[in-house]
Amino acid sequence: MSSGNRVTLSSGQEIPTLGYGTWQSSPGEVSTGVYEALKAGYRHLDLAKIYENQVEVAQGIKKALAEVAGLKREHIFIVSVLCSICENHLLIGIDLEAMEQVSDVEKTLDKTLEELELDYLDLYLIHWPVAFQKTSDNQLSPIDKNGKEVAIDNSVRLVGTWKGLSMINLPKSKVRAIGVSNFTPEHIDGIVEATGVTPVVNQVERHPLLQQNETLVKYAKEKNIHITAYSAFGNNDVGAPLLLEHPSIKQIANELSATPAQVLLAWAQTGGHSVIPKSVTPSRIRSNFQEIKLPDSHVATINAIGNQPRRYNIPTQFVPPWNINIWDEELEKAAANSVLV
Ligand SMILES: NC(=O)c1ccc[n+]([C@@H]2O[C@H](COP(=O)([O-])OP(=O)(O)OC[C@H]3O[C@@H](n4cnc5c(N)ncnc54)[C@H](OP(=O)(O)O)[C@@H]3O)[C@@H](O)[C@H]2O)c1
Repeated sequence: MSSGNRVTLSSGQEIPTLGYGTWQSSPGEVSTGVYEALKAGYRHLDLAKIYENQVEVAQGIKKALAEVAGLKREHIFIVSVLCSICENHLLIGIDLEAMEQVSDVEKTLDKTLEELELDYLDLYLIHWPVAFQKTSDNQLSPIDKNGKEVAIDNSVRLVGTWKGLSMINLPKSKVRAIGVSNFTPEHIDGIVEATGVTPVVNQVERHPLLQQNETLVKYAKEKNIHITAYSAFGNNDVGAPLLLEHPSIKQIANELSATPAQVLLAWAQTGGHSVIPKSVTPSRIRSNFQEIKLPDSHVATINAIGNQPRRYNIPTQFVPPWNINIWDEELEKAAANSVLV
């Protein structure tokens, strides 16, 4: 059975719970990947300027629109993110009361629309709750003066960024809804208290080793914020085996005559969340889109994987690391930049 599940967002839009991710898809492979995904039935694409492949993503979308019978732009839920590290990042987060600064946020969005050859996005997210310091040569990962960590710009406050992103300032003709990514409940409380505008989505790392059920997920449910999970197969960047190799996942897959990826994707969607697996392998793109039913007993077994020591998340594992606390894990607790509201 193909996955066509959708849920309704607080904005009234319907989001497909299974989407297609594009991080670490090289420009040479991503247009085919996007085309194959749309051909297989995916109607939710997760994109980012910082992935440096949106121009090729556009080629995949164009090919699918031309070749997949009946497919139209409005059938695809397209998400992109305002990055911390693009050339306009400094202007993104300044406390945006002045209109020329607001328009710089829109300029950054315009660049994404231009790359994607689209008139509008269905959803635009703030990628990370931090901005990086600008260097004269626009480095993507500027290093701090000690040479050890990414240089975070502490003058950039989230409230300013969110104001710049609010519906008042970004035309609905270009962005249908706005949200955040990698935000903690404290970050979200801060921007909502200051502006009264609640993000529609929080896109976060979530998999059996980083479930966050009693914290972030519970909070999101109370506030009617939709969770989209990334890195559903376990974190790619930490050098540990992916959860696709976990014995319990493999055993469940065996019992259900499914693939380990299908098991993890079904678990990720339990509770009505979205998930955005990345693959550039056409056979995996297709099989990941095949939905399986996951009995409650198996959900419980997978939940129990979370009782094992947690796996550290992406920012602390980047080289150089970011001095930021997102998930409140041991490694992050001493971070200077825990809340930047
Ligand atoms: N907002 C954020 O900060 C953020 C951060 C990270 C990710 N994301 C988004 O989330 C998406 C997914 O996360 P992710 O890229 O970290 O990783 P992921 O989807 O958990 O895993 C991708 C890896 O799994 C492999 N794979 C895919 N399907 C498979 C299958 N059926 N069997 C075996 N291996 C399989 C892929 O290989 P092949 O490609 O070689 O097939 C790739 O190496 C990203 O692409 C991006 O769009 C957002």
